[in-house]
Amino acid sequence: MDDVRIRPAVSSERKDLEALQWRASLSNAGDRNALLAHPDAIELTIEQIETGGVFVAEWNGLLAGFSAVLPRADGETDLDALFVEPATRRRGIGRLLVEHCASVAREHGSTALHVVGNPHAEAFYLACGFEMTGTTETRFGPGLLLRKILAS
Ligand SMILES: CC(C)(COP(=O)(O)OP(=O)(O)OC[C@H]1O[C@@H](n2cnc3c(N)ncnc32)[C@H](O)[C@@H]1OP(=O)(O)O)[C@@H](O)C(=O)NCCC(=O)NCCS
Repeated sequence: MDDVRIRPAVSSERKDLEALQWRASLSNAGDRNALLAHPDAIELTIEQIETGGVFVAEWNGLLAGFSAVLPRADGETDLDALFVEPATRRRGIGRLLVEHCASVAREHGSTALHVVGNPHAEAFYLACGFEMTGTTETRFGPGLLLRKILAS
C-alpha cells in the first residue's frame, strides 16, 4: 500500500494514540462495558514510546493505527498492542503493522511473535499467519494465545 507509512511513534502523540485505542476498542461489540468499567486499561506509557517499541501507521498523512512490541524473558517478542481506526479498516493497515512488528522482532533475534488476542480479532490474526496455541483468561474475558513463527 503506497499511501501507508509505518514509523516509530513520538512521545508528543501519546494522547492521540490513546484516543485512537479507545475508538478502536469500543468498536468491538460486547467489550464496551468492560472497557468503560476499567478505563485504566487504555494506557500507553511514554517509556514504551521512548524505548522505540511503538509504531504508527499513517494513511494519507493521518494517524490510522498503531502497534507495540515488548521483549519477553524467553527471547521472543510480544505484540502488546494493535489498533486500527474503525474508518480505515480492511485496507491492509493492520497486516502491515503486524509485518512491521514481525521484522522488528526478527531483528532482535526472536523466532516467534506472540499475542494474547481479542476473540473479535481471531480471523485477522489467522489471516496474518498466526496459529492458535491455547486460550487464557484476561480481566476482560477470554483471550486467545496466538503465535506467529518468524522465518529467519
Ligand atoms: C483487528 C484489527 C487491528 C484489523 O485491522 P485492519 O487494518 O482492518 O486489518 P487488515 O485490513 O490488515 O486485514 C487483513 C486480513 O485480516 C482479515 N480480517 C480483518 N478484519 C476482519 C474481520 N473483521 N472479520 C474477518 N476477517 C478480518 C481479512 O482476511 C483481511 O484481509 P481482507 O481484507 O483482504 O479480507 C482492527 O479490526 C482493530 O483495530 N480492531 C479493534 C481492536 C482490536 O481488537 N485489536 C486487536 C487486539 S488483540
